[in-house]
Amino acid sequence: MHLHIEGSLEPELMFDLAERNGVSLVYDSVEAVRAAYAFDDLQAFLDLYYQGMAVLRTVDDFDDLAMAYLRRAHAEGVVHVELSFDPQAHLLRGVSLATQIEGLRRAMRRAARELDLSTALIMSFLRDRPAAEAMQVLEQANSHLELIDAVGLDSAERGNPPGQFAEVFARARDLGLARVAHAGEEGPASYISEALDSLGVGRIDHGVCCLEDPALVARLREAQIPLTVCPLSNVRLKVVEAMSDHPLPALLDAGLKLTVNSDDPAYFGGGVLDNYLACHEAFGWDEAVFKGLARNAIEVAYMDDARRLELL
Ligand code: ADE
Ligand code: ZN
Repeated sequence: MHLHIEGSLEPELMFDLAERNGVSLVYDSVEAVRAAYAFDDLQAFLDLYYQGMAVLRTVDDFDDLAMAYLRRAHAEGVVHVELSFDPQAHLLRGVSLATQIEGLRRAMRRAARELDLSTALIMSFLRDRPAAEAMQVLEQANSHLELIDAVGLDSAERGNPPGQFAEVFARARDLGLARVAHAGEEGPASYISEALDSLGVGRIDHGVCCLEDPALVARLREAQIPLTVCPLSNVRLKVVEAMSDHPLPALLDAGLKLTVNSDDPAYFGGGVLDNYLACHEAFGWDEAVFKGLARNAIEVAYMDDARRLELL
């Protein structure tokens, strides 16, 4: 449920697409790209993430990117994927919204046919760009609304509070779209409350900083607001020092509705299964805990009721 499709771009595909599109990369090998993936914080990662995705130009590129990821996810036992994408990052390079959505949706249709994988598409706005720009993108998306399931909010969190996007999210609600937002990844617990109050989101991406505020934890528990937690991402971006310091056990003890996700699998050390394995190793969780986490995801995912019943 928390997967940036551009963050699934493995260095090998990055080189293939660079060659196909005549884009020059600043790295001379796949190993050099991987060696650069040592981040001090979210911004250091975002700089490379936006640079890497510049190889994506055509419908085929978005299709190939998504299909490669969906095949890997399927191979590790994933049955439903919600792909988030960052339209502004591509629009700024002259790649149309139609190109992006057509490519992603083509892969999603193929995954349904060939892999029995259900999917949803989340269009995320960049919180470090103006809200007016996000609104323009939402208006452009009007002609593709049946292909979009939800809107999200991501990119650099500190200093970019959710409330700035209240009008955009109100418009998304009026258009019938579900809403999610990154909050409490690097930013304060107050951004989580603000995302709930000002944006009306039904889920919080990350949310790990909620533990700073006991009243907020009580609210999240009482309303059973899902948190899409990404433990390996939090380690790689130095939100926590190591898996052994991760707040997931405390969040679980607090009775919160948790799911475990991969965020940007090509950059942070693997997919959902790797995140599950890291939790098993760090916390000694047994099968019952993982079944509970997977059940939470199925209960709150954007899928039709027939699919939900089939998976539960
Ligand atoms: N965009 C891609 N990955 C992200 C993350 N972990 N936080 C915020 N924005 C992102
Ligand atoms: Zn994320």
